[in-house]
Amino acid sequence: MAPHFSLALSRREFLGGIIGAVALNALPGSAGGFGGVAEKAHPFVAYQFPKDFLWGAATASYQVEGAWNVDGKGESIWDRFSHTVGMVKGAETGDVACDSYHRYKEDVAIAKKLNLKSYRFSISWPRIQADGTGKPNPKGLDYYKRLTDELNAAKIRPLATLYHWDLPQALEDKGGWPNRDMAKYFADYCEMVVKELGDRVNDWCIFNEPWVFTMLGYAWGTHAPAKKDFEAFLRASHVVNLAQGAAFRAIKGVNAKLKVGTAYSVSYCQPATHSQADRKAAARADALGNVWFLQPAMKGTYPEAFVGGNPLDKMDVKTGDMELVKVPLDFFGMNYYTRTIIAAAEPNQNRPGVDLSDSGGNDGPKTDMGWEIWPDGFYELLMRISREYKSTPMEITENGASYLDGPDAHGKIPDTRRVQYLRGYLSALGRAMKDGANVRGYHCWSLLDNFEWAEGYTQRFGLAYVDFRDQRRMIKESGEWYGKLAETGNLK
Ligand code: FCB
Repeated sequence: MAPHFSLALSRREFLGGIIGAVALNALPGSAGGFGGVAEKAHPFVAYQFPKDFLWGAATASYQVEGAWNVDGKGESIWDRFSHTVGMVKGAETGDVACDSYHRYKEDVAIAKKLNLKSYRFSISWPRIQADGTGKPNPKGLDYYKRLTDELNAAKIRPLATLYHWDLPQALEDKGGWPNRDMAKYFADYCEMVVKELGDRVNDWCIFNEPWVFTMLGYAWGTHAPAKKDFEAFLRASHVVNLAQGAAFRAIKGVNAKLKVGTAYSVSYCQPATHSQADRKAAARADALGNVWFLQPAMKGTYPEAFVGGNPLDKMDVKTGDMELVKVPLDFFGMNYYTRTIIAAAEPNQNRPGVDLSDSGGNDGPKTDMGWEIWPDGFYELLMRISREYKSTPMEITENGASYLDGPDAHGKIPDTRRVQYLRGYLSALGRAMKDGANVRGYHCWSLLDNFEWAEGYTQRFGLAYVDFRDQRRMIKESGEWYGKLAETGNLK
């Protein structure tokens, strides 16, 4: 997901459209909901996905593993954040989460039952290096060996993300992502992991959503490490690009045959009106929100995202850096949830040069997260990115919906709204593939209900329901539906 430039709101509040007074009513085709007028806007088109399409689901270490201080694991910035009262709804933590550290076999069994061909998970850096440097912790590595052995035995492709936000706290204490030394620490960690797991895992995502963890972590302060400093975001974003390049080279140095990409948060940036000012603002929002970490890798340049030019000084871009950030990713992932409406705005000294306002759309229905359902935005974004990056294969590394539906009296979980959501977005994906988008896989977020960052346990994204009182997992109606689709590839 990619909300853009708001300050100090949670992702949920932000996409609920609290700020960003834009002329939504002036949008063409803006009237109506999903089932009414909007049917016209989101034509359902049946689609037969290719035989080898990678049907998957995704999770992330801090959101599912629990076992936060077990077997030599160090403290992460998310442990620190969630243990600070006031940061997470309900003062909840990921201390236990879905307890997947102990129950991973059950999770893989669910994935197999759903006929999944791919499982995207992430590796917890402080499980491998408690303080982010030095020798690896064999017990931490062992957990991921067992998990990936289990996946391979079930004939499910492991897609491992090396960083899904749980930075070792000790590295944050050294300055965190704004510190240039991070590129080397991170590349060392990646090399270490790939040396140990590269025989079991062929496909790697370096980062999950660099925009989200740098912007929300260092500028808005709504995610760990809760810093509110726009210049820290600017520096962090460049260091993350350097780290992406360094990690890519380190992994290829271990084994050049491994396939390496990153999962980016993306959102269709729709101008609020047809005015030139709004259209220019939307182009800047796309540059900073969607391709700020992709274009440097693929082309060795930053896209134009700031009025008056990118603040290269404040980003601390040094001579020679742009060669270091440029790496030919084998594929890239897109995490897509909802569209963003962009309007030109007056300059704001808290984020110089951004000069725009953003908000979630208000035309489609909302999920429980407050995110608007607008599959056409997904189609538009896929086409926009594939026009520019078509020769590189893409995977949808996340897409999904939060609904609180729970078990009924018969123990069934009739989450029909999630089925509708998935059907709509998958049809948009099918349309884009028909029109030439080079997409080879799709991962539903998420396999399981889990710890949803600052929202705690108030949001449920799973294809399987988790009863957090006793950790019982139950496949939802959407899971059954998705499992059938994964078997046939026939969207109808
Ligand atoms: C994405 C995150 C993922 C999950 C979903 C709902 O931004 O990558 O961990 O929280 O949103």
